[in-house]
Amino acid sequence: MTFDTVIANGTVVTASDTFRSDVGIREGRIVALAEGLSASAGPDTEIIDATGLYVMPGGIDSHVHLDQPSGEGIVMADDFDSGTRSAAIGGNSAVLAFCMQEKGQPLREALKDYHGKAEGKCHVDVSFHMVITDPTPEVLGQELPALVEDGYTSLKVFMTYEGLRLRDDEILATLDSARRTGALVMVHCENEDAIRYLIGRHEEEGLTAPKYHATTRPVAAEREATHRALSLAEIVDVPIVIVHVSNREAMEEIRRARVRGQKIAGETCPQYLVLTADDLDLDGLEGAKFVCSPPPRDKPSQDACWEGLEQGVFDLFSSDHCPFRFDDPEGKLNEKGKRTFRWIPNGIPGVATRLPILFSEGVVKGRIDLNRFVALTSTNHAKLYGMYPQKGTIAVGADADIALWDPRRQQVLTNDMLQHGTDYTPYEGMEITGWPVRLLVRGKTVMSEGALVDEGAGRYVPRARSPLTGSRV
Ligand code: URP
Ligand code: ZN
Ligand code: ZN
Ligand code: ZN
Repeated sequence: MTFDTVIANGTVVTASDTFRSDVGIREGRIVALAEGLSASAGPDTEIIDATGLYVMPGGIDSHVHLDQPSGEGIVMADDFDSGTRSAAIGGNSAVLAFCMQEKGQPLREALKDYHGKAEGKCHVDVSFHMVITDPTPEVLGQELPALVEDGYTSLKVFMTYEGLRLRDDEILATLDSARRTGALVMVHCENEDAIRYLIGRHEEEGLTAPKYHATTRPVAAEREATHRALSLAEIVDVPIVIVHVSNREAMEEIRRARVRGQKIAGETCPQYLVLTADDLDLDGLEGAKFVCSPPPRDKPSQDACWEGLEQGVFDLFSSDHCPFRFDDPEGKLNEKGKRTFRWIPNGIPGVATRLPILFSEGVVKGRIDLNRFVALTSTNHAKLYGMYPQKGTIAVGADADIALWDPRRQQVLTNDMLQHGTDYTPYEGMEITGWPVRLLVRGKTVMSEGALVDEGAGRYVPRARSPLTGSRV
């Protein structure tokens, strides 16, 4: 058997196993797993020596915002070029980004826009979740079913954000369309009316600093909306994904729904493990760097999110990368945002730091094992969103999407190394043990030692229906 590439002498880690094996790659796929493959290498075979390294499936970040419209005068800091560059630096071979429907816009038109934004610019593989903001009978009855057939098999709805949020009847109609078509629905759970009320009360009292972003989006607003989303899904009888869970009470809603027999997936993110609301209370307007929704909470909430990762309440660990520049009139510190937290765009960068943070804080500190790390950062994303076993594992026949990790490499996080479009990282100065030193996307080395070495290798990935919804169609 001939190979284009052999990864030799490494330790392969999948979501279930850890074993010594070489990896033989041909035409972008894994074609052999065995020891001693380099002995049968041809003259043109590239041998990558992985002695002392873990050979893991490339990260799949299924929650990433790139090049979205973000309100008047506000510009998202990453397009598909810089966003997927940063993803590669952080060991990800694929990202799932959002395709935002504008009000009144046919879904096909939104997709055409986002394919145009991504075309020729991606350095890792990409797929889209639709965001439904205008669930008309036409959209839900005709457009969405046709898109699901074409491999756009997931969508997100928002219970918060003026202009994006859906009312309960609209969510029910969207869930019902998903039930009929087998689409998987992700839900952003926060009670918009409660948040509006609290923002109004705070502004009346002159409380406008960034830290009030956290107090106006309390745990109760997230817990209530999580409970409501789960209840609506139960009524329609359809699985859902609760995204970016920040605290114990919302997490307990997921546990309870599972006990009731509901099919639910849960997601949490690095910001809920290592940041707190105190970070929003830094001097001056520095706290704006940490404004995201739901907001980072407190130490007990961090502990709860760790517990959820350890115990399997959460299936997914995603970044919710949603980058805005800090010191910029089109970013966090826009004119209105300087006056009140209400206008600070929500979201923080994190596509490059997701994997190193979980490896260092989770694996190295003994909270989760290597296999759970792979499940939470790659395999479960591929499974849940219909890309498995093509992606998300190291197996014969799978795409050769592979990250080589040096488990001993120590690194202090600085903004420069992340190569995203923002002028800061919320994790500046954090000490990390364990680092992705090389990344292959379908057999091609895309990143090596912190540098992008192959531009534009990413492709669009159509997806099957989720196995979570699959039995219903
Ligand atoms: O603050 C956040 N998370 N912004 C991104 C949009 C979202 O809700 O996921
Ligand atoms: Zn969200
Ligand atoms: Zn409840
Ligand atoms: Zn998000």
